[in-house]
Amino acid sequence: MQALPRADPSHAARAPVRVVVARTLPAAGLDKLRARFDVETGGLPSRRDWLLEHVPGASAIVADPTVPVDGALLDLAGDSLQVVSNFAVGFDNIDTDAIRERGLRATNTPDVLTNATAELAVALMQATGRRIVETDQILRRGEWVGWEPEQYLGRELAGATVGLVGFGRIGQRVAALLRGFEPRLVFSSAHPKDEAAAEHGAERMQLGELLAVCDYVSLHVNLTPATTHLIDAAALAAMKPGSILVNTCRGAVVDTAALVQALRSGPLAGAGLDVYENEPAVPEELAELPNTVLVPHIGSATRSTRDAMAELCADNVIAVLGGEEPLTPVI
Ligand code: GLV
Repeated sequence: MQALPRADPSHAARAPVRVVVARTLPAAGLDKLRARFDVETGGLPSRRDWLLEHVPGASAIVADPTVPVDGALLDLAGDSLQVVSNFAVGFDNIDTDAIRERGLRATNTPDVLTNATAELAVALMQATGRRIVETDQILRRGEWVGWEPEQYLGRELAGATVGLVGFGRIGQRVAALLRGFEPRLVFSSAHPKDEAAAEHGAERMQLGELLAVCDYVSLHVNLTPATTHLIDAAALAAMKPGSILVNTCRGAVVDTAALVQALRSGPLAGAGLDVYENEPAVPEELAELPNTVLVPHIGSATRSTRDAMAELCADNVIAVLGGEEPLTPVI
């Protein structure tokens, strides 16, 4: 166990080190924190007023994608604050400039959720491409009239061109998982990624070119100002007729209104979505469409992955409050 000078019980006169968990954390992480610090949890659902009330004097804040962390919150915490540990790989909920300006640290939970998220992306490709949810509903409504030669035709991954927008950890894992399906793999990325491209037999393309040739497009970028509405009306219009869009990164990477239009009148054949622009709101227009598969932000939602994320999230707090370098720093 790392040294924890500020939690040393021999300094009885000092206030205990406080960690404020904005919502909650699986026991795999929460118990680690509770063994070392005075931990308060806001519980579910997320309550900004609770957080504002409890953050003064905290040494660490544990946040997640639903918890905006801005300068005002950091200032309210005061001089005791050292780290914001995000229970997620994405950290678009955190104002990283505000963290940097105040000399604080921010951390996330990469790697441990890569496979779970990549598997979900592949599942959404198949569920959308093979119309699994749509036909399940037809069957349950008693509308299936029996096998017909050209009924419910979908699209195979074998022989399809699959485009990965973003070729980081998750994008590359999707490429590895897809190999057995034998698609043609292409990717777009700000960086050449020559080694990974060779390993996965994937060809790098500019985004516009990728959108024009792909049967499936799966999004794997961080949400930043540069990627907000990266897939806008023009990008959607440039997609191959009959193609399928899968989004497991962040909702705001896609312009939802334009997506609805592209699903209604083409060129898209379908969309598999795990993330939405204004979660937990999901536009009625998306839900009414038969060619969408919609799941509620479950990319990392497996027992083992959420436990691993919780542990890493706690270990980052323990490291920083112990005067060590965090395991997975963002800042
Ligand atoms: C979840 O959305 C994450 O970023 O880990």
